[in-house]
Amino acid sequence: MKILFLNGPNLNLLGTREPETYGTITLKDIETFIKSEAQKINADVEFYQTNIEGELVNKIQEAKGNFDGIVINPAAYTHTSVAIRDAILAVNIPTVEIHISNIHTREDFRKTSLTAPACIGQITGFGTFSYKLGLIAISDYLKSLV
Ligand code: DQA
Repeated sequence: MKILFLNGPNLNLLGTREPETYGTITLKDIETFIKSEAQKINADVEFYQTNIEGELVNKIQEAKGNFDGIVINPAAYTHTSVAIRDAILAVNIPTVEIHISNIHTREDFRKTSLTAPACIGQITGFGTFSYKLGLIAISDYLKSLV
């Protein structure tokens, strides 16, 4: 089982970015943890982060035929990106949306996700543990298909 973890803008700054909201764990720490958790369930995980919307679209397109599932934290693009939503729909790869913070308890503009309706579901508000929950959600979903 191959799972692609995509991370949008400013998530490269995890660890120092607004620690009261996003904690102090770095994206590299999350990647190391998720890769070791993935090994335990025989899943192969790749991590990618970019600050550029079109690069996320390219990665989603390139995932077709190469990955069984996607876990995406689109970050700020969650609330604005029709292009990422359309890319998820176009490739038709099962996708789980995750957020570190609970986007529904924050500013009104964060309460809308343009990308979530293209996904199986959304995990939001569990801190960096949302990444582990994303791994469980996508792997259980993919196992249920076979
Ligand atoms: C985020 C929530 C978004 O609203 C924000 O723009 C982010 C991070 C989260 O993981 O909580 O960059 O996706």
